[in-house]
Amino acid sequence: MKIAILPGDGIGPEITAQAVRVLNALGESFEMEQAEVGGAGYAAHGHPLPPATLALAKSADAVLFGAVGDYKYDTLERALRPEQAILGLRKELGLFANLRPAILYPELAGASTLKPEVVSGLDILIIRELTGDIYFGKPRGVRECPDGPFKGEREGFDTMRYAESEIRRIAHVAFQAAQKRGKRVTSVDKANVLETFQFWRDIVTDVHKEYGDVELEHMYVDNAAMQLVRAPKKFDVIVTGNMFGDILSDCAAMLTGSIGMLPSASLDANNKGLYEPSHGSAPDIAGKGIANPLATILSAAMMLRYSLDKAGQADRIEAAVKQVLAQGLRTPDIYEAGTTKVGTEEMGNAVVNALR
Ligand code: NAI
Ligand code: MG
Repeated sequence: MKIAILPGDGIGPEITAQAVRVLNALGESFEMEQAEVGGAGYAAHGHPLPPATLALAKSADAVLFGAVGDYKYDTLERALRPEQAILGLRKELGLFANLRPAILYPELAGASTLKPEVVSGLDILIIRELTGDIYFGKPRGVRECPDGPFKGEREGFDTMRYAESEIRRIAHVAFQAAQKRGKRVTSVDKANVLETFQFWRDIVTDVHKEYGDVELEHMYVDNAAMQLVRAPKKFDVIVTGNMFGDILSDCAAMLTGSIGMLPSASLDANNKGLYEPSHGSAPDIAGKGIANPLATILSAAMMLRYSLDKAGQADRIEAAVKQVLAQGLRTPDIYEAGTTKVGTEEMGNAVVNALR
């Protein structure tokens, strides 16, 4: 199995190096090949997504991605900015399903802004459709309003739309993910107001017929937002469209209060995927050896589970992460009095040792 390693910028190389060490400690024979991406791609080859990097990502079974972006590239024209690399990879690899777990280890319950009893032990998975919805629907623009009470004024407009096949494929991803977890899916929509999301509800209900072992509930997005902060542990898998998912996934991430702990996956129709921490390149702490590598290490675990069919190895990594937290080891972003402050490499060492 071939894994493309794309470290990128800022803390990207530091955190991916630790994830690679963890993968190497599993005793599997993965072929890992590294390439430049983002600002590093621009610096080395004049483009944030150099052709050789894209070819490597396409040929690999999975991509482990660090992060891209640095202030020093802010003056470049948009097409050459580091962030274009991740957009290009999503498009070129057809990554339409974004999986973002929100996990709060009991040891870190103090990091959340919510009461520990509400969030301690939280383990939910938000699945956001990534390539459709109002973000991409056409027509869109600013025009002279053609009718109604504002006729003749200028108006801005976008188009919300989802094709049946787009809804079906994301629903399959959600039900299959639930089969590997708590066997419950909450589909979030706005079927009471939007035609697009009444259609969404009907199609998700139809796909559910193929998954007798998974429980399905439908919820309106406004209620889902409320429930996420009121009683988030009631959820298992949440599946929703691009816009609702954008908002709800950030909300869920912040329930845990620790951006350095959250992994993510973006999958195509064949479970090939790109795995990256939910955070960015953190240029403010790059090169200092203090970045938390756990989000990237946990992204590698997701890669094993969803793309490489090695759920047992994913379990091992997740158990090792729990163990180092239980030992009291903390990078500065999750440090609390009474725990032991460690750097990026020491944290990586500890996970590797826990695996052994
Ligand atoms: P960020 O996530 O990089 O940093 C936000 C804050 O969290 C910073 O104070 C940072 O030090 C801290 N932080 C992030 N990851 C951490 C870790 N692993 N350990 C400890 N602390 C951590 O977001 P920001 O500052 O908005 O963006 C910085 C750069 O990253 C920008 O160029 C942005 O475009 C890029 N970015 C890239 C993403 C990607 O590659 N997928 C996603 C988000 C932002
Ligand atoms: Mg967002």
